Amino acid sequence: MEIIKATKLKEKPADQSKLGFGKYFTDYMFTMRYNTEKGWHDAKIEPYAPVSFDLATTVFHYAQGIFEGLKAFKNEKGEIRVFRPEENFKRMNRSAERMCIPAIDEKFVLEGLFELLKLEKDWIPTAPGTALYIRPTIIATKIALGVHASTEYLFFIILSPVGSYYAHGLAPTRLLVEDYYTRATVGGTGESKCIANYAVSLKAGEEAEKKGFDQVLWLDANEKKYVEEVGSMNMFFVIDGEVVTPALVGSILPGITRKSSIELLRANGYKVSERRVSIDEVIEAQKCGKLNEAFGTGTAAVISPVGTMEYKGVDYVVNGGEMGKITKWLYDTITGIQTGRLEDKFGWVTKL
Ligand code: COI
Repeated sequence: MEIIKATKLKEKPADQSKLGFGKYFTDYMFTMRYNTEKGWHDAKIEPYAPVSFDLATTVFHYAQGIFEGLKAFKNEKGEIRVFRPEENFKRMNRSAERMCIPAIDEKFVLEGLFELLKLEKDWIPTAPGTALYIRPTIIATKIALGVHASTEYLFFIILSPVGSYYAHGLAPTRLLVEDYYTRATVGGTGESKCIANYAVSLKAGEEAEKKGFDQVLWLDANEKKYVEEVGSMNMFFVIDGEVVTPALVGSILPGITRKSSIELLRANGYKVSERRVSIDEVIEAQKCGKLNEAFGTGTAAVISPVGTMEYKGVDYVVNGGEMGKITKWLYDTITGIQTGRLEDKFGWVTKL
């Protein structure tokens, strides 16, 4: 792997308790190009810098692009720990297939990422609740206005030291159950991590934020009946002792934190059902005191308790607006495995 050294390094953020999410970027990035003659080629680690593009570049017009999100941690022993990175590149290739983007060599990019992380190890924050967020992305770079899959692409990985995704940290979130706008339909792109999914969600998100909510809880597009996900998180409910998460019906992102949560909960004796769950069932459970907990899972959001959900103008409070027991256990367990505080029984962590 070619490494082009930076002549000057940036100053790192002084206060790790104020990192926020996605505000700082490290000194280097991993890049690789694709064209039909050479396939993926020209992989290198180079100084993080702006890249210029022709305004007729495909991704600007038709959103042919995909991304991933994963995290690296550093503990007091100085261990660099990456959480389930192979799962992200596997999912990236599934998104690539859906978006007519050529597959990447998962092992090769994983090695490129590890090189990059070793080079940038001093950027990995160590304060509680912090991590180095890793953003692999592929964009279509052919200069053309015809609506066709591009024949040229740029793959890149950028790194950002982060704190919690929500400005209020681990405090329970307020969700607005969205019963007008739609995020995704079965047969569409909801289950792939393509950039357009996030653009589509902005309008509802903005309107919800103006009303004081943190996020929108999406319902299925056809009937506006079944709970889907939050966009930046998959959803879980604890209803009368049963942990329930919406089944992956085709319009929901197959989250890696979702999958890890299910595996951890089951291994520890919890009953977890992946099934369709209607918003009426959730509201009904809340009304009769059986909605024990609600939480979201995601790489950026980790495990985020949900404190209230508003549906058709009525606020429904979950667990008195407090983080529930299972939510807390899951948060502590996942972050414990990620940082090395707890034993990694599943072999999820790659240590560098
Ligand atoms: C993540 O959790 O990594 C995501 O990609 C969600 C969001 C920040 C876009």
